[in-house]
Amino acid sequence: MDHANYDPVGTEVIDDPIPAYSNLRKECPVHHHLGLENPVYSFSRYEDVQSVLVDQEAWSNRFGPGVSYDRNVGDLQRYDPPDHQIRRRFLRSEFLPRTIAKSEAAIQALADQLIDGFYNQRKVELHDNYALPLPVKAFTEIMGISDEDSGDFKTWADELTLGMTYPERSKQARKAVVAYTTDQVQKRRKAMEEAHLPDGKDPVGTVVREGLISHLSCHPLEDGTFMPDSEVASMIGQLLVAGHETTTSLITNVVWRLLLNPDQMDLLRANMALVPNAIEESLRYDAPVLGLCKTNNLSVDYHRVEIPKDSKVMVLYASANRDESIFPDPDIFRVDRPLLESKRHLSFGWGAHFCLGAHLARLVGRLALETLLNRIDDFRLDGPTERVTPPFLWGRKKVIIVWD
Ligand code: HEM
Repeated sequence: MDHANYDPVGTEVIDDPIPAYSNLRKECPVHHHLGLENPVYSFSRYEDVQSVLVDQEAWSNRFGPGVSYDRNVGDLQRYDPPDHQIRRRFLRSEFLPRTIAKSEAAIQALADQLIDGFYNQRKVELHDNYALPLPVKAFTEIMGISDEDSGDFKTWADELTLGMTYPERSKQARKAVVAYTTDQVQKRRKAMEEAHLPDGKDPVGTVVREGLISHLSCHPLEDGTFMPDSEVASMIGQLLVAGHETTTSLITNVVWRLLLNPDQMDLLRANMALVPNAIEESLRYDAPVLGLCKTNNLSVDYHRVEIPKDSKVMVLYASANRDESIFPDPDIFRVDRPLLESKRHLSFGWGAHFCLGAHLARLVGRLALETLLNRIDDFRLDGPTERVTPPFLWGRKKVIIVWD
């Protein structure tokens, strides 16, 4: 493909963006595209992408990570310092490895239960029956919400994700998430008030169940105020988009890629200690989020292209991950690539906005892959796979496997 014709939502790029990214890195490291809702500049080289992610003075999140100039407050991806740090610090405790570890047994139990359910059929479509339910379970565990609501969450997540590229497609889902979350927050705040707890007694874990929604509802921010309901709703909406489809894609991508590379599958089966390496290599090789937008606070010059203030600039994580100046043999998928090397990938971003759910995603990915390989000896692909729909996400939505 000619770089001048690079169209991020064109069929060729949708099918496989990697050849186009390779051209962009070589020939056109700052690409200007006019075919979306707003003009978008794309950065494809590692060094340029990383320079954007670490410089919060020049680069802002205030218009959101999509192609539209979206000013919805509430989620972390739409704040700059100092509001960003205040909110991020507030959320961080819920995403620490020790908090996440509390969900491990529930996720493992579900992985086993799902495989028990389909094992005797000797055939399964992996996305719907395995890769999707696991992150949904992890999400509901972290949120502290009941399993019955998880079906709605899946639908809302899909619509909100599509809304990043086609904003009008997500209006209904936004309303539904706001209504659900506001109700959950109000219930918790009411329970807290009615309980008349002595000063200093934490309502979370005593009068309301543990989890992120309770944390957001019942604990004040650093300045002593409570986060408004609307902000809590936006935050949950963002976590839905950020956490669901991405982790599902990590699972389908790694299994699909191993099936396409039987030597790597054999290597992994022979040494299961390499599962974390395989997960990291999958994140590098098949970034579940191809790219997101930042907006520049001031006019900037990259490769002699002057980018006017307030432009939408898409940083292509997936392209940076294949940059030959950083990764030896970047187009080779190697489950034994040393972690020090593969972990330089930018699939979770870098710097102040680095993915808050990275520990959770890695945990779910590891448990999903380990359990599948341990439980099913020798499985193979049955028919073609299909790509997920949102243009800036990368994952398989249909992966049928069979075994004897
Ligand atoms: C494989 C799975 C995942 C991938 C590839 C991924 C990727 C990303 C990326 C690219 C960003 C933006 C970084 C930037 O601004 O440059 C991000 C941010 C974020 N992610 Fe993830 N994510 C994943 C899973 C999760 C999960 C499971 C959660 C939580 C349930 C989560 C929560 C967040 C949050 C809250 C942010 C915003 C952080 C901030 O702006 O400070 N992510 N993620």
